[in-house]
Amino acid sequence: MRVISLSSLKGGVGKTTVTLGLASAAFARGLKTLVVDMDPQSDASTGMDVIVGRHLNISHLLASPRSSQVKNAIVPSGWTRSHKGTVDVLLGSPSAMAFDSPSLTKREIWRLEEILAAVEDDYDIVLIDCPPSLNGLTRMAWTASDRVAVVTEPGLFSVAATQRAFRAVDELRRGVSPRLQPLGVIVNRVRPQSIEHQYRIDELKQMFGALVLQPELPERAALQQAQGAASPLHVWPGESAEEMAMNFDLILDRVIRSVQLATPESA
Ligand SMILES: Nc1ncnc2c1ncn2[C@@H]1O[C@H](COP(=O)(O)OP(=O)(O)O)[C@@H](O)[C@H]1O
Ligand SMILES: [Mg+2]
Repeated sequence: MRVISLSSLKGGVGKTTVTLGLASAAFARGLKTLVVDMDPQSDASTGMDVIVGRHLNISHLLASPRSSQVKNAIVPSGWTRSHKGTVDVLLGSPSAMAFDSPSLTKREIWRLEEILAAVEDDYDIVLIDCPPSLNGLTRMAWTASDRVAVVTEPGLFSVAATQRAFRAVDELRRGVSPRLQPLGVIVNRVRPQSIEHQYRIDELKQMFGALVLQPELPERAALQQAQGAASPLHVWPGESAEEMAMNFDLILDRVIRSVQLATPESA
């Protein structure tokens, strides 16, 4: 089981969009996929069409990480009603906010890792949608991860914010979790005609080189439409959904290479 965090210091740059896009790509490829919704806003849970009902959620597990309870906080995505495969969601909750403190004890920082150990044999890939900060929830997510992808828009402060995020990844690797590595920067909401955007992308490439993941993701209404319908992008109709599905396939390829994950195709 390989674990990937999708992070950024800012909200609204596309963490959830990238999480859902990669989940859709992994599902389409037949990977057993778990999405962990660490953001108290719980948008990933909504986007994956889950029925919350009386299930436990991430905040219960963070409060008391008993392995016997972990599966009670995980539900199948509604995506599996119409398509075969495994894609589950560890439910998010506004109550998770209580764990987003700037300082965590040594025990607390390992809590998500502890939780995920209970489902180690059940999934190929775990995608963690992180909150827009570097506080407790993100640190727990990173400590449980093999790779961190930083999502950014091509804006004025994107280099500085990305740098700060990578520095924090580095610190955590040296302090707590030697297996943690940056996957790279995912540049989202690009308007290819925008000179400003091209300038910012060049800046990111000068700074981070091959860590700027290809392709960059353009701004496309189809993404919002698929999300609004809580549908996987890979079955949403239209050329622009197809283009975005292909973009996420390529980024998933990069993830798979980076963590040396065996896929159904390679088996
Ligand atoms: N590439 C894109 N093209 C069009 N809309 C996008 C794109 N990326 C994100 N959005 C939209 O922008 C909003 C914020 O994105 P979201 O993924 O929720 O950001 P975050 O999780 O970082 O807060 C959402 O409404 C989403 O549908
Ligand atoms: Mg989000």
